Amino acid sequence: MPETESPTTPGQNRGFGVDVGGSGVKGGIVDLDTGKLIGDRYKLPTPQPSTPEAVAATVAEVVKHFDWTGPLGVTYPGVVVNGVVQTAANVDKGWIGTNASEVIGAALGGQHVVVLNDADAAGIAEQHHGAGRNRDGVIILLTFGTGIGSAVIHGGQLLPNTEFGHLEVDGKEAEHRAASSVKERKDWSYERWSQEVTKVLVSIENALWPDLFIAGGGISRKADKWIPLLNNRTPVVAAELQNEAGIVGAAMAAQADVTR
Ligand code: BGC
Repeated sequence: MPETESPTTPGQNRGFGVDVGGSGVKGGIVDLDTGKLIGDRYKLPTPQPSTPEAVAATVAEVVKHFDWTGPLGVTYPGVVVNGVVQTAANVDKGWIGTNASEVIGAALGGQHVVVLNDADAAGIAEQHHGAGRNRDGVIILLTFGTGIGSAVIHGGQLLPNTEFGHLEVDGKEAEHRAASSVKERKDWSYERWSQEVTKVLVSIENALWPDLFIAGGGISRKADKWIPLLNNRTPVVAAELQNEAGIVGAAMAAQADVTR
C-alpha cells in the first residue's frame, strides 16, 4: 500500500449511540475512529412517565429514523450491571431490576444492545476523543445536570458504575448539593454554586487523588464562568464533546464492551 493511503476509509468504522436523558432521547451515527457524529443527531422528548417500555419504544424510534441495524449502545442515567438496571434516582422507579438490554432489544426486534451508565459513556468518549486524550493517570469525569454522574478512568480503562453523585458531602448528598439543577432551583450565582461544587470535588479528590477532573453536562458549555472560581487542588477542565459525549461513548461501548 502506498504510504499516503490510509488503511481505512474515513467514516467506515461506524457505530450508533443513543443517550437517554431526563428530557431527551438523542441518537446518531458515530465515526468510531474520530469520535465525531456522521450527519445530524436526532432527538425525541423523553416520555413521561419514563417507564422502561415507553423509553425503549422511543429509543427504537430514534434508531429506526436512521435505518440503523449494526452495533448499538444506549446510555441509562443510573447503575447498569450486565444490562440490568440497579438504580433509578431521576427516572421512573419501574426501571429497577429491568434488563434494559433485553427490553430495548425487544423493541428493536431482538437486536443486540449494550446499555451502560450515562456518565461512564461520556467518560470513555472524553478520554479517547475529548478533554482526556493524551492525558495519563486517573481521570474523573463528572456530569452536572439534574443529578451528578461520575466516570473513573485509569490507563484508558473504565471503572464502571461509580456513583459519586450520591456520596455524602458535609451531611448532604453530593448531587443535592451541587447538581446544576440545584443552582437553577435556588437561583444561585455561579459564585455561590461553585462553592458547593468545590466541596464535592475536594471530598472526591481526598479519597481518590485523581490527576484530572473533566467537568461535563450542559453547564460545561459555560465553563469559563465557573471553573476559574473553583478552589480544589486537582486541575479541572471542561468536557469538549458536550452534548454528544453520551452518544459517542455509547457507540464506543457497543463496539468493545467496556462496562465489565
Ligand atoms: C445517577 C447516576 C447518573 C447521574 C447523571 C445520578 O443520579 O445515580 O447513575 O450517572 O445521575 O444522570
